[in-house]
Order: sequence, then C-alpha cells, then structure tokens
Amino acid sequence: MAEKILVTGGTGYIGSHTTVELIEKNFETVIIDNLCNSSTEALKGITEITGTEPAFENFDLCDYEKLLDCLRKHKNIKAIIHFAALKAVGESVEKPLEYYKNNLVSLLNLLMAMREFHIPALVFSSSCTVYGEPDKLPVTEESPIKSASSPYGNTKQISEEIIHDTISAVPGIRAICLRYFNPIGAHKSSLIGELPLGTPMNLIPYITQTVAGIREELRIFGNDYDTPDGTGIRDYIDVGDLARAHVKAISRLLEDRNKKPVEIFNLGTGKGLSVLDIVKTFEKATGMQVRYKFYPRRPGDISRVYADTSLANKELQWKADTPLEETLLSAWKWEKRIRNLS
Ligand code: NAD
Ligand code: UFG
Repeated sequence: MAEKILVTGGTGYIGSHTTVELIEKNFETVIIDNLCNSSTEALKGITEITGTEPAFENFDLCDYEKLLDCLRKHKNIKAIIHFAALKAVGESVEKPLEYYKNNLVSLLNLLMAMREFHIPALVFSSSCTVYGEPDKLPVTEESPIKSASSPYGNTKQISEEIIHDTISAVPGIRAICLRYFNPIGAHKSSLIGELPLGTPMNLIPYITQTVAGIREELRIFGNDYDTPDGTGIRDYIDVGDLARAHVKAISRLLEDRNKKPVEIFNLGTGKGLSVLDIVKTFEKATGMQVRYKFYPRRPGDISRVYADTSLANKELQWKADTPLEETLLSAWKWEKRIRNLS
C-alpha cells in the first residue's frame, strides 16, 4: 500500500513540485493549504502532470482543531513535509507579528499533532538565510548561524530550535531540516511554477516579467560588491532538483531509522553565480534580451553565499544536476504560459 505523506503548503511553489515527485514515486499525498499565497490551479497542474489528484484540505494550520479533524479524517500519515509559511523578507519587517504568528504557531500545532497522532517523521523547509553573510565560502551545515536580518529569517532559526527541542523530548519522532539556497525555474510541462503576487521580489520572476513586457527593466541591486563583476552572488537551484531532494529525505526518514533524530542538509548546487551571470545565461537559453540598469544595493542583501552540498550528496544520494540553461528556459516558458504569450 502507498505510504501517505502530508504536504503543508502543497499548492505553493516548492510544495506543488514536491507533490508531483512524491506521486511519481508512488506516495499518496494529502495537501493542507489555506491558499493565502497560492491557488487551486496548482492542484489542476499536479493532476494533469501525474494523472492523480491529491487529497486537498483548505484551512489555516494555525487552527489546531481543524488540523486534528484533518488527521482524524486522513488516518495513517507516515510523514509530514512542512512548506507552509509566509516568506517575503521585506513584508516580514513591516508585519513581524503576522510572520511570527503564522510561521511559528503553524509549526507548534503540527508538532503537537504529530505527538498526538504518533506521526514519526518531519521534513522542514529551512533556508540559507540562517547563515547571514558567511565568513567562509562555501557554507557547510557547521557554518555559524548569524543573527537573523529579518523576522522571516528569525522564524526559520526559531523553528529549527523548536524542532530540536521537541525531538529531544518526544521519543519516536525524527526530523530533517532542509536549508534551501535560491530555488528557481518551473516544471518542464509548464503546468506548475512560481506565481508571485504583485511586484516580484526575487530575481528570476523579475527577469521573466521584464522580458514579458510587464516590467520596464530589471533593476540590478548593486554593482559594487566585492565579487568579480560587482553584482551579488547566490546559489540558484532548480525547483525540480529541490523537490527530488524532499523525496530522498522522506525515504531516509521512513526507511533508515538508525540516523540522528534531527539532521540538517544544505540544498544548493555548490556553484555561486552573479546576477549578471544569470542575465547572460537567461539570454543565451531563451534568445531574449533582458533590459537592465544598475541601482544601489538593496538593504539587507548579503554580497555572496553558496553551498557546500557534499553532505546532502553523500547522505541523501542526491545531486542538483539540471543545467542552468534548462532551468532558466523553464522559467521563461512558465511566464509565457501564464501570460498567454506565444
Ligand atoms: P509559497 O508561498 O509558494 O508556498 C507556501 C504555501 O503555504 C502557500 O501555498 C500558502 O498559501 C501556504 N500557507 C502559508 N501559511 C499557511 C497557513 N498558516 N496555513 C495553511 N497554508 C499556509 O512558498 P515556497 O516558495 O513554495 O516556499 C515553501 C517553503 O520554503 C516556505 O517555508 C519558505 O519559507 C521556504 N523557503 C523558500 C525559499 C524560496 O526562495 N522560495 C527559500 C528558502 C526557504
Ligand atoms: N536581485 C536584483 N534585482 C531584483 C531582484 C534580485 O538585482 O529585482 C538580486 C539580489 O540583490 C540578489 C540576487 O538578485 O543579489 C538574488 O535575489 P533574490 O531576491 O532572488 O533572492 P535572495 O537571495 O535575496 O533571497 C531568497 C529568498 C529568501 C531566502 C533566500 C535564501 O527571497 O526568502 O533566497 O534561501 F531566504
């Protein structure tokens, strides 16, 4: 019988891609999402790609009673992947209470429900934002955690601590925290992808919207960083590769019970690329020109970060191997599809 996985935030960007990978590996999936940053279109996309419609429950994870009802209805959940969170760094500075409440209460509720229903495994979406501006590159899982530069980043640090404390105290539960670097791209079918609301904050959707004519030009934030071309450096990881790492993490939790109770893995490519590298590769991959202008640095940005991924490569037997051009082309095809461009 297929093992049942609960995916919170499963209609969102990374959650929808992961649900596809889970279904393709014969897991049964149950999605919880309150659609505060996604829509049921993602369910249609998942169903079209996989031929299977995931079970879907629309409610806010901050509502503990609804979560209990959901777990009474969907019995025998073997593991949870917890994507659901608010994630806009800038907005979290404006609305810290909303961010702390949403991201922390939903995690507390899930952990209490795991204890109540004896659900033994959790995969948690963390972020490389916990490393701040690193002193040494690439960053390993042992690199120091820096004080968070935003309430959003702080919710990820606090969440990891809550998970550690809970798992030390509750026997029978294990967790894997995955620290994502910069997820980009869309499913190769163009049926699911990232749907930023309003003006995009992240680089790739800003590029695709500029090329689609929705934005006038890409504003490159800073060309005076201490990097070879002066623009910021990040580790951009294909969302499909990222999704597949979650399936590996789930399998590790379900199959290999002798590992540490809490494990942490960096998920990136191991390569640091500048904003200009991305612009040039996008142009080459798509044949489209990106209009851009240099602007001052964006407050709160770090100059560079990229991952040492050797732990995930070895322990999860996973590697991000989608070529960057393919990923950037998938982002452009997705933008064209949602804007009805030919
Ligand atoms: P997303 O906004 O596309 O998906 C999150 C989903 O969670 C949305 O569908 C939203 O409606 C849902 N949600 C939020 N709060 C909820 C609540 N209280 N109850 C029920 N549903 C709720 O974001 P994403 O890019 O897919 O990110 C997934 C996770 O990965 C988040 O935890 C995010 O912080 C983390 N992460 C993302 C990135 C990135 O760049 N995308 C980087 C590092 C970490
Ligand atoms: N950038 C631009 N112009 C834009 C947008 C971004 O020049 O319009 C630059 C940034 O200055 C940075 C790089 O492109 O140098 C990447 O910026 P993103 O906003 O795409 O990504 P960040 O690295 O700032 O942050 C993202 C998520 C965070 C998450 C972090 C690490 O937004 O939530 O990755 O996972 F914490």
